[in-house]
Amino acid sequence: MPEIVVEVENLVKYYPPDVKAVDDISFDIGSGTIFSMLGPNGAGKTTTVEILEGLRNPTSGSAQVLGADIFKDYSKIRKRVGTLPQNFEPFDLLKPWEAISYWASLYDIRISKKEIDRLIESVNLMDRKNLMSKKLSGGEKRKLGIALSLVNNPELLFLDEPTTGLDPKARRDLWNLIDIIRDKGTTIFLTTHYLDEAEKLSNDVAIMHKGKIIAQGSPDSLVEKYGKSTIIVLEGAGKAGLAKLKEIGISASIDEIDDRNVLVEVKRHSEMKATMARIANSDVPMNDIYTKRESLEDVFLSLIGSKMEDGVLKE
Ligand SMILES: Nc1ncnc2c1ncn2[C@@H]1O[C@H](COP(=O)(O)OP(=O)(O)O)[C@@H](O)[C@H]1O
Ligand SMILES: [Mg+2]
Repeated sequence: MPEIVVEVENLVKYYPPDVKAVDDISFDIGSGTIFSMLGPNGAGKTTTVEILEGLRNPTSGSAQVLGADIFKDYSKIRKRVGTLPQNFEPFDLLKPWEAISYWASLYDIRISKKEIDRLIESVNLMDRKNLMSKKLSGGEKRKLGIALSLVNNPELLFLDEPTTGLDPKARRDLWNLIDIIRDKGTTIFLTTHYLDEAEKLSNDVAIMHKGKIIAQGSPDSLVEKYGKSTIIVLEGAGKAGLAKLKEIGISASIDEIDDRNVLVEVKRHSEMKATMARIANSDVPMNDIYTKRESLEDVFLSLIGSKMEDGVLKE
């Protein structure tokens, strides 16, 4: 069993008069893993993070962070925790190396020029080292934010929506960076409303909705538990292909998104090989054949009943 770094039990946060931002959640985070809290805007992610960062008191429940009780002992572990707040903006007029030096001083850390360079290099900003922060791109600002959050060499790092609003390339860059930080042994608590991000990065995901965790587990286990099945796509098979499959006793349907394609749903993984073989041995007309696994996106849709775009649920 890996060491437990964060242990949350029955946590509740109530904002008067009537907002239950966090409504009785429990979870553990194992050392060296990435735990993602995935949910739409207003789900209660930031409130949870701020409680675990020691910035906010919960209404009830308990939580241990790095072995310390968050009510009594947070001061003992504060220096072992790093944070990137939501919508982080670095100071406009400081250059990256100055911002890092300033941040270190807030933590009472004496930081050498070499160490500053190492941090800047670790987030790939060496060519921006002497540029005022206001000149950095959105992605570069977040990278600088991550460099600042690493200044105290934290064992546990909170990243609250680190990639929100960034373009796809900048998001992928940050994913790589986050992966590397985890590989070096730092435990990461990430919040996101991007399903692909949670699926790509997390060891464990908690899907949060209206203050409650409605499902949690590894991305694979969630897909297995809440997803439907694997789909075989027969590209270009069309109506003729559908008829042919019916003849050999395989139930199939026309793809709603592209009616040139025929879909065969395989409910149990153990049936996959045999079904593929039967299709291959028939002369169903098609251009291509491949399988499509369900993703966290399908899990989310089946659990919440609507899709999410930019953190907003679509009715
Ligand atoms: N300081 C606050 N006072 C009152 N309500 C708040 C406060 N902060 C957040 N909320 C409310 O709590 C709920 C959860 O917010 P938040 O934790 O920011 O969610 P998320 O980070 O998932 O978007 C929302 O309904 C939000 O409006
Ligand atoms: Mg938030």
